Amino acid sequence: MPRLLGVEDCKLLEFPVVHDPQGNLTFVEQKRHVPFGIARVYHLYDVPGGAVRGGHAHRECEEVLVAMAGSFEVVVDDGSEKKSVRLSRSHLGLYLPRMIWRELVDFSSGSVCMVLASAFYDEADYIRDYSEFQAAMAAA
Ligand code: TYD
Repeated sequence: MPRLLGVEDCKLLEFPVVHDPQGNLTFVEQKRHVPFGIARVYHLYDVPGGAVRGGHAHRECEEVLVAMAGSFEVVVDDGSEKKSVRLSRSHLGLYLPRMIWRELVDFSSGSVCMVLASAFYDEADYIRDYSEFQAAMAAA
């Protein structure tokens, strides 16, 4: 089994930008601009002030989070270390390897978070209990 990645591996990815006075364009290609094949795309929007999203880890699914509009803070936690990254640019994505606990907080009004995911939705892939996550990381 490969080593589990930690918060230091939750890196910002920079996507290509085609600058144009008529408006910029950014694109994302799987396995080139994100380190996995994209199986699913979803987005969070109409998030009310003060809301907390996330609050879970994925056993296998890897994700990249992108602020398509507005901004929000992503707190990542690998069971021993935490860090916080504010996303506000649509040409930057935050890579979240498997087994990273994440919380999304402090959404600005009108913000939209797009998520590129390496797997289809599967509730069995979620760890939603923080003590279960800590125990799994301690055992790993
Ligand atoms: P969840 O992943 O817990 O949201 P967040 O991490 O943004 O707080 O998902 C919330 C609900 O939406 C949950 O009932 C599962 C459902 N859902 C799907 O049906 N398909 C999906 O692709 C996702 C991400 C969630």
